[in-house]
Amino acid sequence: MRSPFSQGARVLAGSIILLCAGVGAQLDTLAKRAGKVYFGSAVDNPELGDLPYKTLLSNASEFGQLTAGNSLKWETVQPVRGTYKFAGGDEILALAKQNRQLFRGHTCVWHSQLAAWVEAGKFSAKDLTAIIEDHCGRLVGHYKGEMYSWDVVNEAFEDDGSYRKSVFYNTLGTQYFETALRAARKADPNTKLYLNDYNVEGINSKSDAYYTLIKSLIAKKVPIDGFGVQGHLIVGQVPTNIRENFQRFADLGIDVAITELDIRMVLPVTPEKLEQQKRDYAAVIRACKAVKRCVGVTVWDYTDKYSWIPSVFKGEGAALPWDENLKKKPAYDGIASAWLS
Ligand code: XIL
Repeated sequence: MRSPFSQGARVLAGSIILLCAGVGAQLDTLAKRAGKVYFGSAVDNPELGDLPYKTLLSNASEFGQLTAGNSLKWETVQPVRGTYKFAGGDEILALAKQNRQLFRGHTCVWHSQLAAWVEAGKFSAKDLTAIIEDHCGRLVGHYKGEMYSWDVVNEAFEDDGSYRKSVFYNTLGTQYFETALRAARKADPNTKLYLNDYNVEGINSKSDAYYTLIKSLIAKKVPIDGFGVQGHLIVGQVPTNIRENFQRFADLGIDVAITELDIRMVLPVTPEKLEQQKRDYAAVIRACKAVKRCVGVTVWDYTDKYSWIPSVFKGEGAALPWDENLKKKPAYDGIASAWLS
């Protein structure tokens, strides 16, 4: 039977019901209602001196999870061989525990923000293996029982799907994935171990390369629990097959997470760009929502005040759901309504 109401009226009624169901509900609450583990944010230690920022970050209904934006990277944690510094990470852990937020570890093995002594050490394969085992073992071990998950290896592929020629690959070939993952598992049997990268949101050469690698790790019984998709995206250029991409990794029996979401625009900001950004955030959230094993979404900080984008992508910015004055942007409603949809 034909509905007496027009399509427009039905869509409007549906939206009103959704809005009512979600009134006041914040992003982590909405993510959990959608069956996810968390919605979270990255944070860098110096930002914690900004009280209004810290207060909003500490609202666990908005952010159920934190990631240390810089303080667990190799150059910070082990700047000199054998000297470990966990103060920055410990500060964020303490905050997360106080707020009852999950903590994601970022990251053990990465070519960037790597300590110079590793990069320039000209180590043999045997020595570099021992160095990775020690670093991942101590880092993950220090937070044993405290971390929801770890980005064990970060950014290991080039965009064309070839292995990145890092000091790790150049010295050890593909063996270093196994070395790092096994060391992490030994140090904390219960945390979830991820590989993490950018430009792997959709199906492309780079995500294909991860698919092949993860399949082979699973076949060799190397511990791997998840694929982290960073999500550094551009307004108007969000890939259309994110859901399909996530689903194929989920079908391997692992989790998927969006670990560093931001959607940047060419400045200046206009109302049109903000509306497009809202649609783009909603599209990413809907993809995660649609895939059962997509466990959560983390924004790479929540406010434009502390975004890394302007310093790296000249002339671009305004990539996050809150503006520089900690005011919600249309993107916030895009995220909220996508969790509700
Ligand atoms: C960025 C930080 O946000 C910046 O503060 C720092 O100067 C550079 O690194 N991919 C990653 C993150 O895995 O660690 C990066 O974080 C952003 C890109």
